[in-house]
Amino acid sequence: MQLTTSITFAIAIAGALLAGTATSIPVHDNQQALAAHPEVTIVEPEVLTSTLRDTLVANNIIGDVLDDFEPSYFIDINYPKSHERVLLGNDIPVDSVSKRPVFNFYSVFSPFIEAKNSTFTLALTDPDATSRDNPKMSEMCHWILTNLTTPIPEPPVEMLKAKPGEIEEYLPPSPPPKTGPHRYVFVLLEGDSANLQAPEERPHWGYGKKRHGVRDWADENGLTVVGANFFFAQNEEQ
Ligand SMILES: *[C@@H]1O[C@H](CO)[C@@H](O)[C@H](O)[C@H]1NC(C)=O
Ligand SMILES: *[C@@H]1O[C@H](CO)[C@@H](O)[C@H](O)[C@H]1NC(C)=O
Repeated sequence: MQLTTSITFAIAIAGALLAGTATSIPVHDNQQALAAHPEVTIVEPEVLTSTLRDTLVANNIIGDVLDDFEPSYFIDINYPKSHERVLLGNDIPVDSVSKRPVFNFYSVFSPFIEAKNSTFTLALTDPDATSRDNPKMSEMCHWILTNLTTPIPEPPVEMLKAKPGEIEEYLPPSPPPKTGPHRYVFVLLEGDSANLQAPEERPHWGYGKKRHGVRDWADENGLTVVGANFFFAQNEEQ
């Protein structure tokens, strides 16, 4: 029961984010929290995954960064010091994202998530380096965390921190002056991560060509894209 409740809750949060009514609901007390937030709409998993996908398509994340996919996980990401939450395309000030975020991820579909034996990798990439109009350095690799195990969606659901599986250190987003808003895209990848290596360099994820990055790296390492979330950040000087 608790399992289903918790997943329903995660879906409710995601639905609320998409509906633009995000609230900072304490994740440790889900039923009470849900009851206390009548504005939170519980959406069907099929609706959630297609809405997530539509949002990624509308912002050309699916296209510029990822091949088309059906999101099967929702990634919840918070910057605890600044209390900023990544809400599928919100604007976050650069100085709010200077330290590593905490995160968790939830299956959109499967109440049997714990039966799976998967490992996950979380990456952060900037497809708009140095600008969206001139992505000559894109993609820029900002962060890679490997060896994440299947989350157990039992309350209390805790946010996770970077653990030893950090193969690429967190590089805080720092879009240059006058380069407009950059999309900062978190990508959740599923697959064996025991032997993953960081790219040789951050620009182009080491592939040496404009608009190459996490998609190539995932392909090369046999990883499947299962979720994505993103925010916009820009230099104050425009
Ligand atoms: C889960 O995967 C790991 C690594 O691939 C393996 O060693 C382990 O035996 C698997 N466990 C189950 C229950 O399948
Ligand atoms: C990931 O896990 C594997 C096997 O458990 C381990 O050998 C490897 O060193 C880990 N990777 C990192 C970056 O910690």
